[in-house]
Amino acid sequence: MTERYAVIGHPVAHSKSPWIHARFAEATGQDLDYGRIEAPLDGFERAVDAFRAAGGRGLNVTLPFKHAAFRYCQDTSERARRAQAVNTLVFRDRVYGDNTDGAGLTRDIEANLARPLAGKTVLLMGAGGAAQGVAGALLDAGIAGLVIANRTLSKAQSLAARFPPAAASGYGELRAPFDIVINATAAGLGGESVHLPASVLGSQTLAYDMVYGRDTAFLQAARAAGAQACDGLGMLVEQAAESFFIWRGVRPQTRSVLDSLRGG
Ligand code: ATR
Repeated sequence: MTERYAVIGHPVAHSKSPWIHARFAEATGQDLDYGRIEAPLDGFERAVDAFRAAGGRGLNVTLPFKHAAFRYCQDTSERARRAQAVNTLVFRDRVYGDNTDGAGLTRDIEANLARPLAGKTVLLMGAGGAAQGVAGALLDAGIAGLVIANRTLSKAQSLAARFPPAAASGYGELRAPFDIVINATAAGLGGESVHLPASVLGSQTLAYDMVYGRDTAFLQAARAAGAQACDGLGMLVEQAAESFFIWRGVRPQTRSVLDSLRGG
């Protein structure tokens, strides 16, 4: 019997997840249907209840419901608890929640961009939900140091305290180039830029924007500094593959899906 999955968010109309999961299902021979659910801002729980009652087996959760999804779960993974957020719900006898965002980011950097993280210095820009979702996975990858920089320093300090040995900083105090700089702020979405000191981006730096589908001011500044610049499309595909694996026990290949998305 065809098993049902979906992405739930607000807005969700432009989500690429249904297309990505349909490609994964084709390639692995899995019989599943993957749709999209736009829940009202105050109606996440009701929408999930209805999907479960109709036989749904799992959901991907996107903005702004990842914290609500965490609260909805009866059981959660360690990485979901560290992120305090859930992007993958599994409905069995109980409701299980996981978070594949951090694994998606590290897999994109290491496997797709061929940049091993072990021993590298990493600057994480931002201290909101997006940063919180990936800090643990970066530390688990064996990086040499993690600096969390944020416009509001107190938020960077709170986040760094939860992820020792991470350090907190404002943007203005940053000095030496980092091996990897990750933009987890919402600045690119509003067309704004974060004022990074030029010395942070060197010619050997990988500058990674978790936003995809737009050439943000951050990526432009990185290219101007001679750094390698990359958007978050690969993270989107890799977090989807990790969710697919959790649901189906099969790990789909991602390369052709990512190539197709980049090609058009
Ligand atoms: P998300 O869940 O997407 O991370 P969030 O929790 O609202 O969203 O966090 C947004 C992040 O983007 C914060 O780190 C925010 O910085 P502040 O904590 O100082 O607000 C950052 N951000 C948003 N716009 C920014 C801008 N123009 N310049 C720098 N940082 C910005």
